[in-house]
Amino acid sequence: MRQHPPLTPIISALPSTVPFVGPEAQERDRGRAFRARIGANESSFGPSPRVIARMAGIARDMWMYCDPDNHDLKVTVAAHLGVGVENVVVGEGIDGLLSLVARMYVAPGDAVVTSLGAYPTFNFHIAGVGGRLVAVPYENDRESLGGLLAAVATDKAPLVYLSNPDNPMGSWWEAAELIRFIEALPETTMLVLDEAYSELGPTSALPPIDISRPNVIRMRTFSKAYGLAGIRCGYAVADAQVIRDFEKIRNHYGVSRMAQIAGVEALADQDYLKSVVARVASGRRRIAGIAEANGLKPLPSATNFVTLDCGDGAFALKVLQALLSRDVFIRKPMVPGLDRCIRVSVGLDHELDIFAEELPGALAAARGS
Ligand SMILES: Cc1ncc(COP(=O)(O)O)c(C=O)c1O
Repeated sequence: MRQHPPLTPIISALPSTVPFVGPEAQERDRGRAFRARIGANESSFGPSPRVIARMAGIARDMWMYCDPDNHDLKVTVAAHLGVGVENVVVGEGIDGLLSLVARMYVAPGDAVVTSLGAYPTFNFHIAGVGGRLVAVPYENDRESLGGLLAAVATDKAPLVYLSNPDNPMGSWWEAAELIRFIEALPETTMLVLDEAYSELGPTSALPPIDISRPNVIRMRTFSKAYGLAGIRCGYAVADAQVIRDFEKIRNHYGVSRMAQIAGVEALADQDYLKSVVARVASGRRRIAGIAEANGLKPLPSATNFVTLDCGDGAFALKVLQALLSRDVFIRKPMVPGLDRCIRVSVGLDHELDIFAEELPGALAAARGS
């Protein structure tokens, strides 16, 4: 047998697993397509018709590399948020930006604080740089701001992650509480405030953007409300020096020409965004109604999904499996405490019809009747 060249110690200790098994992989395994794709918090409503037309119109230009400065998109984001262009960095979705933050702030062995059961891709990137994750349990289905602060202090963490609104519970903190949290953080700790769902919740959950704080990075994406998950484009807003630090390591040709132009067009069509936000709110009400009609408790949500309390973890897992076997793709949190829930993304009407049709049978199967 030939030898493999040695990996670095950090990488060789990691498992070859991904944080998510995608619906495509599940379909390949099952040999059958899902009928309702309501598990990955995508936007089934898709991008704005203006964005679709623009993307179709520029297909022929894809022989050209992208602008490695992401100039037009940065200018558009900066104007949209009322910050300077020097306060914006663009990346391959929030996921891509999280990988950069891990490399920027975490040395091997450093403690990194997050919530137990929070967005797993963050943990994946921290593991990749040899960080030591400290996971604080949720309290009442919300990330525990007090618990996160205490862990940051105890472990002298250079980095803390908070998603607001939160995935997988859909819960959120109001701006005033977040501001108190930010003010209480040590200046030596960087906060990643993941606002992937920011457009879909109450505006009262969004603190004003304050780029004068060098220890806060706000991240947003075109994947959720803007309906462009497949294009992989997101951005971070921060103090100008922090943005220059991203420049040291980012993948300069990572955000495609198609993604940059789609992002500019998407931000320009705020009427479409408003219509999606309204459709998502009505989809959340519909999911909650279907859940209640079947004896499940919907949790309040500021996102494009609703988390449904099924009572206990073993039962919720059976409900998930029964829905998957009925060709309904959903997901569920797996950590103790949160695992009593399943998570259903807002989909198109016909997808929620399928969910409504299949849920009673899935619950009966889970109960073993
Ligand atoms: C909290 C959170 N952050 C980030 C992402 C991914 O964002 P992007 O598609 O921009 O990488 C998701 C997607 O589910 C999410 O739930």
